Amino acid sequence: MAPRHRVFVTRVIPEAGLKQIQEQCHAEIWPDPLPPPHDVLREKVANCDGLVSLLTDRIDAALLDAAPQLKVVSNYAVGFNNIEIKAATARGICVGNTPGVLTDATADMAFCLLIGAARRLVEGHQYTLSGQWKTWEPLGHLGQDLVGRTLGIVGMGRIGYALAKRCRGWEMKILYHDVHRNEHAEKDLGATSVGFDQLLAESDFISVHTDLNDATRGLFNEKRFKQMKPTAIFINTARGPIVDQKALYNALKAGTIFAAGLDVTDPEPPALDEPLLRLPNIIIAPHIASATVGTRNAMADICARNLLAGLNGQDLPAWVNPEVASTRRR
Ligand code: DGY
Repeated sequence: MAPRHRVFVTRVIPEAGLKQIQEQCHAEIWPDPLPPPHDVLREKVANCDGLVSLLTDRIDAALLDAAPQLKVVSNYAVGFNNIEIKAATARGICVGNTPGVLTDATADMAFCLLIGAARRLVEGHQYTLSGQWKTWEPLGHLGQDLVGRTLGIVGMGRIGYALAKRCRGWEMKILYHDVHRNEHAEKDLGATSVGFDQLLAESDFISVHTDLNDATRGLFNEKRFKQMKPTAIFINTARGPIVDQKALYNALKAGTIFAAGLDVTDPEPPALDEPLLRLPNIIIAPHIASATVGTRNAMADICARNLLAGLNGQDLPAWVNPEVASTRRR
């Protein structure tokens, strides 16, 4: 019998993926809730054929150099900004991710933050818990309406589209800004492609759905918040570093914009003395947009299938760097 592939899995992922991996590989699973330290990860992958990583694991060229047999990195996430893709490709290593299956859950979370921030839900909850609720207040807790307003999507990919589709149910007008035109969004949802300046000036809700890359790092800065309406609500379920957090704090504190809802921060978790945590007009969730039972199971299944395909010399079902096909390690 051929020796089983050796793999390292950097966290306990759902059974739906773990079982397939354990049945077919010699797998070591990092049991702690916190990620393995980088130097430990380097040691662990030294004799591995496959690696299952999370968005909290930095997979850089030095780590890949420490793993001369590594054939595949299967990231348990759709985003892969934690992996140096060029370095993996240059070394003949396949990289997989988990697109598609988390689209609805993430769009649901973006909508949840949008409506929660617009209606000041968390602030109201705190008000109740702290005993400040004395009576019904005609002028208290006034938020923003949703129906018929304008949604600005920055990055009209799968998740941006899914949020726009939800907001069409609230009769919103959809604007989007992306490097690519999205004809489906234009045809199905009546979305309009606009320049970034126009989107910021005209949107009541601005939701971020871009990758984190050199062009988007720090994209939402002081200048950009100043271009938004004072009633604007800013939502980020993509990646924390797309936003200059100090600029967001200043905009929320000064009333430059009305409120924000974040599922991602920079760093994660935010430091306990992060000023954003003290503001009433922000909701911050702990990067849980994909955290539903069904979605995390589906992510685990794709993740396992990517890993096994990478180990067995097959095409990965969700292949980030298919250009490596002809030079991949066998
Ligand atoms: C991803 O998959 O990239 C999300 O951020 C976590 O599910």
